[in-house]
Amino acid sequence: MNQVCEIAQLGAKVLRQVSETVASVDSPETRRIIEDMKSTLAKSEGVGLAAPQISRPVRIIIVASRPTVRYPKAPLMDPTVMINPSFEPLSPVKEKDWEGCLSIPGVRALVPRFKVIKVSYTDEDGNFIEHIFEDFIARVFQHEADHLEGKVYLDSIESSVDIISESEYFKLFTRNN
Ligand code: NI
Repeated sequence: MNQVCEIAQLGAKVLRQVSETVASVDSPETRRIIEDMKSTLAKSEGVGLAAPQISRPVRIIIVASRPTVRYPKAPLMDPTVMINPSFEPLSPVKEKDWEGCLSIPGVRALVPRFKVIKVSYTDEDGNFIEHIFEDFIARVFQHEADHLEGKVYLDSIESSVDIISESEYFKLFTRNN
């Protein structure tokens, strides 16, 4: 029943829309979107997914941190569904680090993001949750939350010099690690 969905690619209008608030966590429609997002993310190499990426412009994201080449100390967490997420920075400090996006294959870029944020969202069971996220998880959260505003990470870079091809990215990090 769950399907692996095609991922909307940069240029698709749905990636540039402001997503709608989810009114009912347990409506069949919401459940279906969540299950499709889980299946789609599980089949990808991604660490997060936003509903607009499966062409559903509603305010649902999944954050699924795991250690990566760039973030070997990133915590391994079960994919966490966050409905109607929001955040506030707990300090003005931003850090630049590499990001990629399933909707923009082949490139990576350095993106400044808040280092420590307080997030709130509704979980899959309808509970209101608040957490403090730092570093990699805070970065993934901010990246996915931007998708709900119709933004992609390339909108947040400081300079086009900070964009590189994915093949150069892998060369860079296999050389250094
Ligand atoms: Ni993305």
